Amino acid sequence: MLVAVLAGDGIGPEIMVEARRVLDVLAIPDLTFEEAPVGGAAYKAAGHPLPPATLDLAKRADAILFGAVGDPDCDALERHLRPEQAILGLRKELTLFSNLRPAKVFGELADASTLRKDVAEAIDILIVRELNGDVYFGEKGMRTTTAGLREGYDIMSYDEAEVHRIAHSGFQAAQARRSKLCSVDKANVLETSQLWRDVVIEVSKEYPDVELSHMYVDNAAMQLVKNPGQFDVIVTGNLFGDILSDLASMCVGSIGLLASASLDANNKGLYEPIHGSAPDIAGQGKANPLAMILSVAMMLRFSLGLSAEADRIEAAVAKALSSGARSGDIGGSLSTRAMGDAVLAALA
Ligand code: IPM
Ligand code: MG
Repeated sequence: MLVAVLAGDGIGPEIMVEARRVLDVLAIPDLTFEEAPVGGAAYKAAGHPLPPATLDLAKRADAILFGAVGDPDCDALERHLRPEQAILGLRKELTLFSNLRPAKVFGELADASTLRKDVAEAIDILIVRELNGDVYFGEKGMRTTTAGLREGYDIMSYDEAEVHRIAHSGFQAAQARRSKLCSVDKANVLETSQLWRDVVIEVSKEYPDVELSHMYVDNAAMQLVKNPGQFDVIVTGNLFGDILSDLASMCVGSIGLLASASLDANNKGLYEPIHGSAPDIAGQGKANPLAMILSVAMMLRFSLGLSAEADRIEAAVAKALSSGARSGDIGGSLSTRAMGDAVLAALA
């Protein structure tokens, strides 16, 4: 089995080193790794954020480990050359349409949340975010209005097949958990959302065991802060899922703890922490590697069929945290390496 290792920009390479050390300790037979540049690093090395050789490796691999992309040096480039286009391109080219973003409080860390402890403790949510459509991939551009004003535009749309497949992901994820699915949209204003809601209701007929509810995205943002314990699985579109998953991560305590899987119809996947490249702390050994390490666990479970190893990693992270290991983002001062060491010690 081949794993593509795309560390990317900013803190990506530092946290990837720790993830690789965890994999080394597990010593899984027949697992091979191949690295390639992506994002701003690839632009600087090869003139494109997603060079053909990197895309080819991603296509050949059984799974992809992805660090982060984003580099302030590249912010003035034309949009198609910016680092972010690499992750968007991989999601689209590999049809990774189903993005699973679990948000759960590690018991001891409820204090790191900005929410009250009793509210934070109840969080155990899975956000299922659609990744291949919506305003992210619609027609976009700059134009001049008849009045001579500059106008930016991005078209939001979903066709029913796109909603259909992500709805199935949401219902199936709910079946594997507490059988509650909340579909988040903005059907009171957007036609895209009206279709979304109609299709989710149609698909729900195939899942009579799942309790379906609907919520407008503005209310969902409020409810995530007010009473996050009410949610089991949330299914939502690309843009709303982007925003709500950052919100959920902070309710949990730190964005440095949240892993994600982006899956195609056959469970081939790309695994990445949901935080970005954090250029402000890059290269300082301060980044929390736990989201990257937890992404490895998701990869082993979903794409490589190694759930026992995935369980071991998750247990080791929980143990490291309960033994008091804390990086800066969760109220401590341990370095990236020391956090990695704590997980390795817990694994041993
Ligand atoms: C995420 C990120 C990306 C997104 C960026 C880097 C393009 O914020 O994965 O949530 O908007 O999807
Ligand atoms: Mg985001």
